[in-house]
Amino acid sequence: MTDALAKTSLPPTPDYDAWPVEVALHSVDHDDRVLTLRWTDGRVSRYHSVWLRENAADESTVNPDTRERILDLSGLGAWPTVEAAGLDDAGALWVTFRPEGRTLRFHPGWLRANDYSNAGDPEAPLVPVTTWTGRERTAPVTLDAGDWLGQAEDSAEAEGLLGRALEVLLGDGVVRLRRLPAEPDTVRRVAARIGPLRPTNFGEIFNVRAKPEPDSNAYTSIALPLHVDLPTREYQPGLQMLHCLENTAVGGQAVMVDGFAVAERLRETEPAAYETLTRVSWCFANTARTTDYVWHSPVIRVDARGRLQEVRIADFLRGPLMTAFEEVEPAYEALMALQRLLREPDLAMRFDYEPGDLVIFDNRRLLHARDAFEGGSGARWLQGAYQERDEVRSRLRMVWRAERWQRIDSGSGG
Ligand SMILES: [Fe+2]
Repeated sequence: MTDALAKTSLPPTPDYDAWPVEVALHSVDHDDRVLTLRWTDGRVSRYHSVWLRENAADESTVNPDTRERILDLSGLGAWPTVEAAGLDDAGALWVTFRPEGRTLRFHPGWLRANDYSNAGDPEAPLVPVTTWTGRERTAPVTLDAGDWLGQAEDSAEAEGLLGRALEVLLGDGVVRLRRLPAEPDTVRRVAARIGPLRPTNFGEIFNVRAKPEPDSNAYTSIALPLHVDLPTREYQPGLQMLHCLENTAVGGQAVMVDGFAVAERLRETEPAAYETLTRVSWCFANTARTTDYVWHSPVIRVDARGRLQEVRIADFLRGPLMTAFEEVEPAYEALMALQRLLREPDLAMRFDYEPGDLVIFDNRRLLHARDAFEGGSGARWLQGAYQERDEVRSRLRMVWRAERWQRIDSGSGG
């Protein structure tokens, strides 16, 4: 290592994130293609030379203005290998790569956080998913948001409440904010603190109340069966918000069921039905005078590892089943097994909306329903909006990032 590289401050990382150095590097060994780091807590991490070269943070690798990668690995002329490596005075790793002869530095906090040789499941959810029934959750976890919209959006108090709400939302699939203003458009103000809205043919903000010439059963006073919204879309909205402005009607209690808990129970009790519902595509179609949304999908969708991704359940939005002839009866048997399961009384949480309540729930996981209410008995008015799961995850990562920068700035983490 040359004197010019004897740095005393840590190098940049290939992103805008904060990487507190909670454990220091102790030593480094390498051969041509693999570099082995030992940390002061005894952990051993291994990195491939090609991986390190691609993830460098210098100006030959990332555009310093955007921190997006500009390096084309295949343009290096040969496989990047390690010529020399060591630790510098700042505690950073330096590596001289062949064939370029370029020496690049790596931030130990970033290396530790991206230690793929010791990583768990990189696709694990940001917050562990906790499935529930009405026994464990008699109402959504509720946070007092009475002061929240009056606080500066980037204040520690506002960020703290938002972070807590988003963690509950990702874990339980539902969270309730209480004591918000019972004023129209509050749902838009709350959504804006998370991310952009997902507009639909019902608008950016929709009003759930009985109205003349309704274009959805939601806009009547009849009971709504358990359902997700808009399974008729290729990508059904990941998030739904409902904000209560008025509720003096008799009846109309809200009902919510964790669709992942339902799927898990079905997998345990009727595995054949579960398997059928993860495989056979049903038609979801809206019946409307002015739109014609149609999508085909299994009722339960899992990823390549069998983890639950989403459920699509809405009896009133299913079109005709169009599948292989011999699949039709097994498909209906499986569907009816699911429908029977949904009637099991322990699954649901039931609660009343108070004016100023805003419930946010994962619309690709939770089913919601409404008991009938008496149209003439008073007013019931909810305003709703959709967003995507992406916005929740991005916003929560930003809350966490701000907390990490705070730790670094206060000197407690590198
Ligand atoms: Fe709905």
